[in-house]
Amino acid sequence: MTEIIAHRGSSGTHPENTMAAFIEAERVKADGLEFDVHMTKDERLVVIHDERVDRTTNGNGWVKAFTLKELKKLNAGTAKYSSEKIPTLKEVFGWAAGNNLRLNIELKTGLIDYPKLEERVIDMIKQFGLENRVILSSFNHYSIEKIHKIDSRIETAILFMEGLFEPWKYARSIGASALHCHRRAAAPEMIQGAVRAKMAIRLFTVNKKADLQRFMNSGCTGIFTDWPERAVHARKTLKKT
Ligand code: G3P
Ligand code: CA
Repeated sequence: MTEIIAHRGSSGTHPENTMAAFIEAERVKADGLEFDVHMTKDERLVVIHDERVDRTTNGNGWVKAFTLKELKKLNAGTAKYSSEKIPTLKEVFGWAAGNNLRLNIELKTGLIDYPKLEERVIDMIKQFGLENRVILSSFNHYSIEKIHKIDSRIETAILFMEGLFEPWKYARSIGASALHCHRRAAAPEMIQGAVRAKMAIRLFTVNKKADLQRFMNSGCTGIFTDWPERAVHARKTLKKT
């Protein structure tokens, strides 16, 4: 059965990467959540997609230029969900302790080299005893290799957007256990090869009904979607091809 992972939470219906979006994803019975982590000026881990706060809040500037106290004054909601704030990783983990969702934490280490981000995220995972529920992913594969060296038991995935040749071989060479691939780069032979190589392959971001059905029939391990409710329905009514 294809895993359904709510991309930035239920971000199709709720403000992305907020508690409202995560709670909704649990309500509609997603199997897991995906969310993104950055770090504040006072070295606190926060859940937000961009390096800057401009697109998703009423503020302006780099996440790394705000203290947590300053960030918490910003509104990360929408007209309908107007009281949402940028959550800390600790807040998300505190809430997740009450459910069984898989947690895919994307480390946004592509543009900014946050000091010891990998170590800090792993410490917090251990603090909450979530080692067996997390998958850490990044477009920066040096981060993935670093995580593997810190604790090889933590599941990791490489993120990529191109048609890499036999990426399971490369992923294994840096200790990653899964491929998180853009749907357009996921050729049938890549999906089939990953399945044969016994490496998990999850595709992002799959929102359209036809794509949901096609990829659910492709044998891939999971899909990331902004609309988990739609995906759950598609999975229930799936006709095998
Ligand atoms: O982890 C899948 C996906 O979230 C990667 O791209 O830009 O949505 O963070 P992005
Ligand atoms: Ca992401």
